Amino acid sequence: MDLQSLQSVAPPGQFPEPERSGVYRAIRQRRDIREFRDDPIDETTLARLIQAAHHGPSVGFMQPWDFIVVRDMERRRQVKALFERERQAAACFYDEPRRSAYLALKLEGILESPVNLCVTCDPTRAEVVLGRNSMPETDVYSTCCAVQNLWLAARSEGIGVGWVSILKLPQLRQILGIPHHIVPVAYLCMGHPRDFPEEPLLQTAGWRQRLPLEQLVHFDDWDNTAGGDSWPELQDALYTCTIQRS
Ligand SMILES: Cc1cc2nc3c(=O)[nH]c(=O)nc-3n(C[C@H](O)[C@H](O)[C@H](O)COP(=O)(O)O)c2cc1C
Repeated sequence: MDLQSLQSVAPPGQFPEPERSGVYRAIRQRRDIREFRDDPIDETTLARLIQAAHHGPSVGFMQPWDFIVVRDMERRRQVKALFERERQAAACFYDEPRRSAYLALKLEGILESPVNLCVTCDPTRAEVVLGRNSMPETDVYSTCCAVQNLWLAARSEGIGVGWVSILKLPQLRQILGIPHHIVPVAYLCMGHPRDFPEEPLLQTAGWRQRLPLEQLVHFDDWDNTAGGDSWPELQDALYTCTIQRS
């Protein structure tokens, strides 16, 4: 077999095109969505998205998550009021003109979206969890992995997801009747978006830009003392390859 044929043999397990591109497309085009149309999400689709979350990785296969599907408008109004209080309180962390810019941002779609979903973490789900003794917080990391699965699957379905974290946990627990030992990790607004913006809304608003990858990749140790020169192809590729928008 000549070199060219060898290179064209797909590694075992690699997805064929266009499935592979579809995965990258979902990653590239996933957005945090804050503006929704009011038509509901088909219930089978919603179930599929929750299934996608449930197939996330978890420390010791702990599966620490629960999912509260929130449709009730009264509870959502209470969550929105909680958000408003927290949003105002957080404004004091910024000086003008950043404070006004912060207050002008739309940072949730709690009432406009047809459904909200609270994803929680139960640190007591299993007595001893393989792999969690040294890093107890891996239960929350696992729950975040479940959320990301849902977020990417939702993008592939044309469903928008917006994560709202400007909420105080004790009050959120009270509104949703969540037991004290359970950690609400993600409060998500879900529905058909008005659109999927090309870039993060915070980037478009001039709030913060995507960081250059070359500042974030280290070779062999934090200070690159061993010299990154031993990875020239990786270095080149990191700076030149992109996740295409198609
Ligand atoms: C843990 C977490 C909490 C977030 N909380 C909020 C929030 O309270 N309000 C909001 O508008 N966006 C929130 N976001 C969304 C981020 O602002 C968004 O992911 C980021 O600006 C990048 O944009 P993109 O998701 O469209 O790529 C949150 C995202 C994460 C991962």
